Amino acid sequence: MPLPDGFLWGGAMAANQVEGAWRAGGRGPAVTDVQTYKPHADPKEYAIHHVVTLDSIREAMSTDDTTYFPKRRGIDFYHRYPEDLALFAEMGFTVLRVSIAWTRLFPTGEETEPNEEGVAFYLGLFTEMRRLGIEPLVTLSHYDQPLALALKNNCWLDRSTIALFERFARTCFERFGHLVRRWLSFNEIDSITRHPFTSGGIVPETVEGDLVQAEYTALHHQFVASASVTRMLHEMWPDAEMGCMLTALTTYPNTCHPDDVAATQAKERMLYLCTDVQAAGAYPPLALRALERRGVTVPFAPGDVELLRAHTVDFISFSYYMSMTESVRPDAERTPGNTVLGVKNPYLESSEWGWQIDPVGLRITLIDLYDRYGKPLFIVENGLGMRDELTEDGRIHDPYRIDYFRRHFTEMIRAVDEGVDLRGYTSWAPIDLISASTSQISKRYGFIHVDLDDLGHGTGERRRKDSFWWYQKVIASNGADLG
Ligand code: BG6
Repeated sequence: MPLPDGFLWGGAMAANQVEGAWRAGGRGPAVTDVQTYKPHADPKEYAIHHVVTLDSIREAMSTDDTTYFPKRRGIDFYHRYPEDLALFAEMGFTVLRVSIAWTRLFPTGEETEPNEEGVAFYLGLFTEMRRLGIEPLVTLSHYDQPLALALKNNCWLDRSTIALFERFARTCFERFGHLVRRWLSFNEIDSITRHPFTSGGIVPETVEGDLVQAEYTALHHQFVASASVTRMLHEMWPDAEMGCMLTALTTYPNTCHPDDVAATQAKERMLYLCTDVQAAGAYPPLALRALERRGVTVPFAPGDVELLRAHTVDFISFSYYMSMTESVRPDAERTPGNTVLGVKNPYLESSEWGWQIDPVGLRITLIDLYDRYGKPLFIVENGLGMRDELTEDGRIHDPYRIDYFRRHFTEMIRAVDEGVDLRGYTSWAPIDLISASTSQISKRYGFIHVDLDDLGHGTGERRRKDSFWWYQKVIASNGADLG
């Protein structure tokens, strides 16, 4: 079945995982600059359980090291983007999802005027993308809260951050709005309850009282900020669109035991809480009740309910990598997924990092989301992190990656055939980058190999993997040729 004409194909990445150049052009420190790579840690454990502390932040900021702080160096996209964009254009990309580092524009988050060097960098980037026929899809906030705000007041825990974010967003819309038509407010907004430091700028040990309460307070502030900048965007650029962004942690009951089904239902309710607020305009009553029973109060200020209701998003975007199951059995075998532990599904294979590969789950997710909200969808992350081997002839043969994408595209196309309004697809990631959860580069996602290892050794040279040519063919045929 053909995909609709104008379906957008491309890739997705985040500033903190690719740009590097952490001190260049007046950029201020972000929370991602103090995230360490731990060579001797088990990446599966590390991804889920590590916690940033005041001591670890102080230690990190006492050094300019980039070896053990890989997000400071990224893949040097900051300097090499013309070369990288040319490779994306060669694959036929019509869209590229990138994020804007808040601290390139506002180094501490509190300046009243933007840093012009930061503005110039993104103007250059978006202009070059447009020149190559690649539409920018831009995330305002992808895990890079200003470190200064995290240390001052736990960033999103404090309501005053909303106004600072509005200033940042206004600057982005004013300065880049003629080049960018589609925006996302917060990457995986739900993730603040899994990693509050990166998603919310919350340093757990400095929170007075209950951390879960703090997470939902910060989440509420992000909802309000998202609705507010959606209104702002529509006022400034009536044709522009704002999307929300959800981590689709698709979960099945582990068995047909009614208790497993009920547990899955409860989990799903909390999973969809964010899209219910951002796409449907209100907190769902049962999720609110569940929070209340947990002792969590949502800090509504006057006008919040009306703002959320009036300024919902234009489209729903999501990341989808894996699925998991839910069981009430405490001894059920668990496996890591995207910053979560889920119960193993006996029918699925897992990657080396434990993520369970489930192409059909992508179709299920698309249909669930479209059924539930009836808004256009955009897949903005999907991909496979694997080790790649450079062969003697300087090539990277990655049939496993091609197989992953082929099976996911087949299910995606089926969902569209069933009637889902899907506007585009951006793979995570088109080029190897620094892993968000483990800070490794050896967990490789790209169609393009980057010659760097986990400690940053290497030339940084870019090489086309076998999957590069395959994706090029898929795009050229608009998904008809998956062979
Ligand atoms: C998504 C994030 O959840 O997962 C990305 O939005 C991240 O930033 C991606 O890179 C893959 O996860 P990881 O931990 O393998 O990089």
